[in-house]
Amino acid sequence: MTLAVRAEHLAERMDDPDCSETMLRRTYERFGLVNRAVACWGRVYRELIRPELAALERAGHAARILDIGCGAGDVLHRLIAAARRDGFAVAGVGIDPDARAIGAARPGPGVHFRRAYSRELVDEGATFDLVVSNHLLHHLGADEFDALLADSARLGERLSVHSDIARGRLAYAAFSLGALPVAPGTFLRVDGLTSIRRSYTPAELAERLPAPWRVERPGRFRLLAVHRPVSPRILP
Ligand SMILES: C[S@@+](CC[C@H](N)C(=O)[O-])C[C@H]1O[C@@H](n2cnc3c(N)ncnc32)[C@H](O)[C@@H]1O
Repeated sequence: MTLAVRAEHLAERMDDPDCSETMLRRTYERFGLVNRAVACWGRVYRELIRPELAALERAGHAARILDIGCGAGDVLHRLIAAARRDGFAVAGVGIDPDARAIGAARPGPGVHFRRAYSRELVDEGATFDLVVSNHLLHHLGADEFDALLADSARLGERLSVHSDIARGRLAYAAFSLGALPVAPGTFLRVDGLTSIRRSYTPAELAERLPAPWRVERPGRFRLLAVHRPVSPRILP
């Protein structure tokens, strides 16, 4: 097994439509725990998202956040909760093409989930202030990756942030051990290790992104693909 190149050919167990429903449900239930431990959204919220929310608030504008490939929705719920704690008016929409993910996602006040691809929202003429995703980039084939970037650049009027793993031996070893306590009865460990093997290094991601997208590093094992429109919507 090598981590020197992306293992694009590997499939995750939870993407198999015939995988165990019980294990899939437990996997969705524990995503929140794992994302909190590894995904650095607290820092992304403080450094990238909160300043945008503040600018929107100063303009008297309630913020709208879209989470693409939201799974069971824990990242979106967490961002909305953080924004509300900071006193911002905010609403969120999570989309995922997998009906099983949308079935596991729980709506809340101002938080909705819908089975859809980002393309459908573009076709509907929808727009959001902020677009996010978590652990989506490594999932996508080359054409899907390009389509996601194009869609999110159109959907996100102020900022798009796609967060994923930075592939590397230390990330693999740390997750291999760290996931042991939460893995039993789930696909978390086996799919997490596959995800690391499918993920990009910072150099690979930088190479893949067209301008004005750029790579940021909110943590040693994390990558962000960040897009700010060249002409962001002017706030009144
Ligand atoms: C590893 S899960 C991550 C779920 C969630 N974002 C999280 O971090 O817990 C990846 C999700 O991406 C979704 N997905 C796969 N291909 C997609 C695509 N082309 N567009 C949007 N979502 C996609 C899958 O259905 C799956 O729910």
